[in-house]
Amino acid sequence: MSIAQNTETTAKLRCIACGATPDTAGRDFRCTVCGDLLEFFFPEWTDGAEPRHHTDPSALKSLWLQRRTSRDALDQSGVWRFRELLPHIPNLEEHAITLREGNTPLYHLPRCARVAGVEDLHAKHQGMNPTASFKDTGMTFAASSAHQGKFRWVACASTGNTSASMAAYAARGNMHSLVLIPDGKISWGKLSQSLDYGALTCQLRTDFDGCVHILNELVRQKPVYLLNSVNPYRIEGQKTAAIELMEQLAWEPPDHIIVPGGNLGNSSAIGKALVEMRELKLISRLPKLSIIQAQGANPFYRCVHEFGGKKLEPMTADTLATAIRIGNPASWKKAVRVLQATGGEVEQVTEVEIAAAKAEIGADGIGCEPASAVTLAGLKKLRRSGFVKAEESVVLILTGHLLKDPDFTIKFHRGDLFAGTAGATEAVQAKYLQRAPIVLDADLGAVIAALDAAERNS
Ligand code: F0G
Repeated sequence: MSIAQNTETTAKLRCIACGATPDTAGRDFRCTVCGDLLEFFFPEWTDGAEPRHHTDPSALKSLWLQRRTSRDALDQSGVWRFRELLPHIPNLEEHAITLREGNTPLYHLPRCARVAGVEDLHAKHQGMNPTASFKDTGMTFAASSAHQGKFRWVACASTGNTSASMAAYAARGNMHSLVLIPDGKISWGKLSQSLDYGALTCQLRTDFDGCVHILNELVRQKPVYLLNSVNPYRIEGQKTAAIELMEQLAWEPPDHIIVPGGNLGNSSAIGKALVEMRELKLISRLPKLSIIQAQGANPFYRCVHEFGGKKLEPMTADTLATAIRIGNPASWKKAVRVLQATGGEVEQVTEVEIAAAKAEIGADGIGCEPASAVTLAGLKKLRRSGFVKAEESVVLILTGHLLKDPDFTIKFHRGDLFAGTAGATEAVQAKYLQRAPIVLDADLGAVIAALDAAERNS
């Protein structure tokens, strides 16, 4: 079984390395000529002709706006609302699986802006998706393509969010799902989601990269549909976060967009959307897209800073931000291209910097999971290096909800997160951000004393 190429519109598959344009993709979504990744491209958009009616920028903008008032499920989705910029899936009405994903808020972050030293800071909170992470935008699209391909099983290797999302969409589409996750290295919140949504959940005694390896072997032997971000349908769906962001900004791009980097699917997708939107004249200039990694899981940082983006040396990754505990990112070449196209930077941040930034985002009344907080931690560094200027506008992409990983948050506020670790000394600097719960007798006087003490310290 192979995955059918869309024939009704102009979207075509192309290998990112050798440029081969196969009609169909194999089950591993890799180029059969050179083994590299595939991506969709839209030949009609770049044939030099004047915008055709269906890509006329102002017509598209008003069509997308109109759909916000529609009662149709696909129009209500913040992914399918933008379907003119996505490959066509035949018989969509029959196959689309939607949880009304996307439609995520753009929040102003005044306190974080002060901390980072920028005037205009916003966060697009992709953790406000149905399964509480950004994965849903790509998953609705790729799961629908699996349904259209009549697959009985879908599968992914995951650090927890992809699996939660896949399990939900598979369940909604009456498909079975197989989850491969590293044993003991994903948060309970994410694990509990895939169990409840009915996935066959295998905790493998390895890391994320080991899970990917097994899955790649598995799809060669079994007719399962691969839902990791090497699947180009995932990338297409995830593009819509950037399209929606531009709509929220009245099509005036910010100077900078900052994303966390793990397997690098998200940076590839957002970058692809930005480049395509400029091609279609939906926006007039490109924001700089910067990618932030945890220092203990920094293969892409090293790829760019040590090897000039020419090679990626896999590593054994380690970080408390388990979502991005990835040592061999699949989409690194796509991400290099995005950096080159947009002029973005790559930074790395320490465990303590991540924890502090997470508490700061929380203190703005927003909150996010640890991997998302690398964006603010990275912004502070990019500001200090002068790459981001005080007067420039910045949007952070927050990828997961605060409640995805409450263990991390509670340990941080209790002061236990770094106890006995290499970060213990550095962690003293983040102490002022800790708000440990206070255990008191059931006594009014004790509560009033606590209130008065808090007031004195505020
Ligand atoms: N933030 C969160 C919350 C994530 O879950 C991930 C990746 C990333 C950032 C990094 O995004 O991989 O596109 O660069 N999580 C994957 C998973 C790998 O399996 O859930 P990326």
